[in-house]
Amino acid sequence: MTNKKIGIIASGGDGSGMNACVFYLTSFLTKKGYKVVYFQNGYNGVINNKVAKTDIEDLRNNINNGGCIIGAGRCPEYSSEEGRKKAVETLAKHNIEGLIVIGGDGSIKGIQDGAPYGLKGIGVPATIDNDCFHSDYSLGHDSAVNANIVQIKAAKMSSFTMGVLPLIETMGRHCGKLALASAIASGAHICAVKEVPMSEEELINKIKVLKKAGKQNIVTVVAEKIYNIDDLAKKIEEQTNSTVRTTVCGYTQRGANTSAFDRILAASLAKEAVKLVEQGKWQQVVGQNSGSTYHMPITNMINSKTNFDFELYNAFFS
Ligand code: F6P
Repeated sequence: MTNKKIGIIASGGDGSGMNACVFYLTSFLTKKGYKVVYFQNGYNGVINNKVAKTDIEDLRNNINNGGCIIGAGRCPEYSSEEGRKKAVETLAKHNIEGLIVIGGDGSIKGIQDGAPYGLKGIGVPATIDNDCFHSDYSLGHDSAVNANIVQIKAAKMSSFTMGVLPLIETMGRHCGKLALASAIASGAHICAVKEVPMSEEELINKIKVLKKAGKQNIVTVVAEKIYNIDDLAKKIEEQTNSTVRTTVCGYTQRGANTSAFDRILAASLAKEAVKLVEQGKWQQVVGQNSGSTYHMPITNMINSKTNFDFELYNAFFS
């Protein structure tokens, strides 16, 4: 048993599985005798010493909920030396030994950025985009895909009934894995991601070819920030003589119900993170590959290359 304190933050864009992860971390840490301090809205709460109030039962009741009850958020102030120093000072004030950061690769890299000032931390990958490439899965991705396939199916059913073309936009501004998974799992005809550049003309041409082949119910899924979806819809209408209805999945992906997969993943990643805390092995990130939980130095994570599945994309959409 120990009387040490550990800080926890959820950083960057929120996502489903964050609440579950905070719950499992708390559960495992307190069993080992650690005290847990939560900070509000990621590094912002650490810099400004804003402690989030919750407890194990509150967290237990939220394992199924998207978003994160301790708040998440991006923190421009942390990119300055002053911000990093202030964050480390807050942790020292609370006598906190190390900080667990639940978030995307930028958030986890924040641990490394704080290291010169004395920050010790462990990262847990959580982003609906699934672009922490050292890990097969990041928390929130599976829940977001599950939410998207429900929306896409509903949009399909009404669009098909009305004889219009559904055009769906998913999140993932820098990575197409969320769009690809959502498109494949819903049997879409066309999927546009930034990893496989497709001009508006090429996309519209694909629709024309499908229409010419007699297909009427054509489902198109695009990742955000590739096109202006309203302009694209208008162009498809003009050039294919169809009516198009758009669905922007937006924040329904980050606030989605937490899937069973993400809950179990949260427990496994939390277990690995707590093991590292006990060993005093800091500046590590946890992850899962081929079903096994593991960890690696954050410096190695930073060099991970994209694991976008081009073969799968091509098998289905080329
Ligand atoms: O990184 C997670 C994510 O949800 C991306 O999919 C999206 O592009 C971005 O955050 C949107 O950020 P926000 O709307 O919070 O600025």
